[in-house]
Amino acid sequence: MCGIVGYTGCREAYPILIKGLHRLEYRGYDSAGTALFSENYGNLNIFKASGKVSDLEKAAEGHDRSGSMGIAHTRWATHGSPNVANAHPHVSQSGDITLVHNGIIENYAVLRDQLKAKGFTFKSQTDTEVLVQLIEFIRTTQETDIVNAVRLALTKAIGAYAIVVMDKRTPDVLVAARNASPMVIGIGENDSEFFIASDASPIAEYTNRMVYLNDGEVAVCVKGSPLKVLNLENDSVEAKVKKVNLDLNMLDKGGFPHFMLKEIFDQPNVLKDCLRGRLLPEHQRVILSAVTEHREELLNAKRFIVVSCGTSWHAGLIGKQLIEDFCQIPVEVAYASEFRYANPVVGPGDIVIAISQSGETADTLAAINLAKAKGAMIFGIVNAVGSSIARHTDTGTYIHVGPEIGVASTKAFTGQVTVLIMLALALAHEKKSISTASYQEVLAELALIPEKIEKVLEQNDKIKTLASRYAECRNFLYLGRGVNYPVALEGALKLKEISYIHAEGYPAAEMKHGPIALVDEDMPVVFIATHHQLYEKVVSNMQEVIARKGKILAIVTEGDELVKKMVDEVIEVPQTLNCLAPLLTVIPLQILAYHIAVAKGLNVDMPRNLAKSVTVE
Ligand code: AGP
Ligand code: GLU
Repeated sequence: MCGIVGYTGCREAYPILIKGLHRLEYRGYDSAGTALFSENYGNLNIFKASGKVSDLEKAAEGHDRSGSMGIAHTRWATHGSPNVANAHPHVSQSGDITLVHNGIIENYAVLRDQLKAKGFTFKSQTDTEVLVQLIEFIRTTQETDIVNAVRLALTKAIGAYAIVVMDKRTPDVLVAARNASPMVIGIGENDSEFFIASDASPIAEYTNRMVYLNDGEVAVCVKGSPLKVLNLENDSVEAKVKKVNLDLNMLDKGGFPHFMLKEIFDQPNVLKDCLRGRLLPEHQRVILSAVTEHREELLNAKRFIVVSCGTSWHAGLIGKQLIEDFCQIPVEVAYASEFRYANPVVGPGDIVIAISQSGETADTLAAINLAKAKGAMIFGIVNAVGSSIARHTDTGTYIHVGPEIGVASTKAFTGQVTVLIMLALALAHEKKSISTASYQEVLAELALIPEKIEKVLEQNDKIKTLASRYAECRNFLYLGRGVNYPVALEGALKLKEISYIHAEGYPAAEMKHGPIALVDEDMPVVFIATHHQLYEKVVSNMQEVIARKGKILAIVTEGDELVKKMVDEVIEVPQTLNCLAPLLTVIPLQILAYHIAVAKGLNVDMPRNLAKSVTVE
């Protein structure tokens, strides 16, 4: 849930670490810190600050920041408030060992009591500090080196971690390890330098040779020597080097004031990337290699079970409707966090679809591991290449929308929905459960979606003006039907997470069963009312709101004069097939949430209490 960076090599470490932390700040941003090993003086310089990475830079200004080895951290507190004492790196009692940690040490209380009994004292409330003291305790009592001490300490730690450790006594060694939290190691030319990070983004500008650590692995990085990887039993493990090429432009804001707005505007292009090589309109086909390779298992599936969280769960709800409609295969959609503890009925013949932008969500990872152990096949729909979920699946399709930095997911959602549409179409075609005419009609229309999104984006200024009128509202209701019901949920989630306004999504017809009691002149109701078979029914629901003086903001199909006359605000989206409508109707809701949050002066990219990848339960 935090960002970790480590460096050892011949360059100055500080600028690399700070730049890396900025790239990772989306993962956690309540405090930050760095430790630099300055060989010239045999010194360890530690700087910490509560707040953002820029606060850390201020704290370090004017001090000695030299050194060609160091570690750094941007925190998302789990244990102890976000203050300087709890910020990482944490230092062992003797001052020799420093450590940064992402995750939770679940048995920290027991370990802390044991260490206290041995005379250790603690300066922070974190679970992390226990680990650094435990490493020191093992290193001194067993008279062993830092690598062994880290390895042995980890055999006693229960929980999730990605750690990087430095020891003053071995100034050329960085030790990294992981269990259920991400960790990537970038290898410089001829092993001259090593970059360690929670994801590839801080590393990509220096090298494309990366090793993704697996759970229970410890990496030993010594500049000038080949990377060594061990397991917790002390056996050597092969370090598999992958070539990872990230588009660096994707990691910057590209002239937009916030990553979220950039990512909203990225959607036409990245969806083209997502469709590229898969949607072949000239051949009138959609080809997903995972479907080609696992045709029999997929076609003979008893059912699909989607497991995911948050926005990815909303995409799953749309996927369910499309797969059931096109393929007549039953689909269940579960919150990963519930599924993992529910003793679910799942086994051979079931296909579990794991949807995740980050590929690191702890609940989703646990859910697929459980399903796998029970014999289900796992199909991943993931954005982050090489991430833990991607590596734990049997097959799958990357959404390929580029790194998403803004905490509020936008382009990942439309990417996920696009992949789910392609999956439903590919399966239906194989199963012959869709007519050739409908199959080709959807394919042709899908190819036009990026251009149609461009048209929706042209309304940015209009939505901005409208947003300023609604920024002071305390509650919002979002209503839609069919495939637009999950869009209503997603619109409400977007608004609440970045503007802190209470918002709820409902199927429009459910309103009369309860939520209508909330409607009065202070309650804006966002209707998604594009043309489809239930359009008239949704219009009747609007009448019910108007009768109770509620304000209506409607997302309608271009040229809809009827609704325009009835309601307060209208945002038009181009005409498309109902099954593709979410790809257009969600866009104004993303933009609306963005501008309301900006109008309220809030930090859109890093909303309070949230983090981009939720690697804790
Ligand atoms: C989306 O805006 C949220 N920040 C959040 O709900 C997110 O979708 C959820 O945590 C799942 O993340 P994942 O897709 O990376 O697994
Ligand atoms: N559990 C640790 C803490 O609270 C690490 C949290 C994180 O991943 O940022 O400090």
